[in-house]
Amino acid sequence: MALIGVFDSGVGGLSVLDEALRQLPEHRYIYLADSLHAPYGEKSSEWIAARSLELCHYLVAQGCDAIVIACNTATAQAIAQIRSALPHIPIVGVEPGIKPAAMQSANGVVGVLATEATLKSDKFNALLATLPHHCQFIKQAGAGLVPLIEAGQANSEATLELLAEHLIPIQEAGADTLVLGCTHYPFLRKAIRKLLGDAINLIDTSEAVVRQLKRSLLLQDTSIAADDVAGSVQFISSKDSEVLLKMAHELMQSDLSTHRTKSIT
Ligand code: SIN
Repeated sequence: MALIGVFDSGVGGLSVLDEALRQLPEHRYIYLADSLHAPYGEKSSEWIAARSLELCHYLVAQGCDAIVIACNTATAQAIAQIRSALPHIPIVGVEPGIKPAAMQSANGVVGVLATEATLKSDKFNALLATLPHHCQFIKQAGAGLVPLIEAGQANSEATLELLAEHLIPIQEAGADTLVLGCTHYPFLRKAIRKLLGDAINLIDTSEAVVRQLKRSLLLQDTSIAADDVAGSVQFISSKDSEVLLKMAHELMQSDLSTHRTKSIT
């Protein structure tokens, strides 16, 4: 059994934690939400890198055997630095699924909804440069969406209105595939379907990320404690861990009966 740290700017990484509990229920988890500082997507690269590294050090100090950076923005801006600072444990990141999207799109028009910081990052643009030129990517920053999801309004009228505005260029270009390039956005699935219908193919990389985590764990020595409970989650927030737990119950499908909470600064 391993102790796995899952870190995000807020509640978005719960979509990855949910998938991890489905695929890897035999491990123990810490979910760390930096809700006091969400959203990360509109902050400077330097700030994102320094804060992400600080929180990964915190997870290592809690005894984590592996860390999932379940935040596209933090992955794009900080994963290289985090991996070189913590070479002894697997650090798994999340990336917008533009490669599978390009392969699956029938008409070659792909929408990419992500934060401003992800879209302008060198990491994202380097990945984009490796993809076939016949594919057209319509990049759209989802400004304002993360705070609404953090406020528990994923399905509110305000979210629907803002999302409709952001999706206009993607809709007008005739995209048949939409990349959910932020771990918060899978919680907008229902709203996106309402606006774009059932035909559009939505790409969320949580499943692939957890498969990658599984492969990394095979190579790792892990901590085993007799009193550890498989599938248990400790929810830690820089703002309010009880609010985080309430959101987890609302947004996740997994059984969260074995949990603890803790707030940090
Ligand atoms: C944000 O905090 O702005 C979103 C995090 C992400 O990109 O997954």
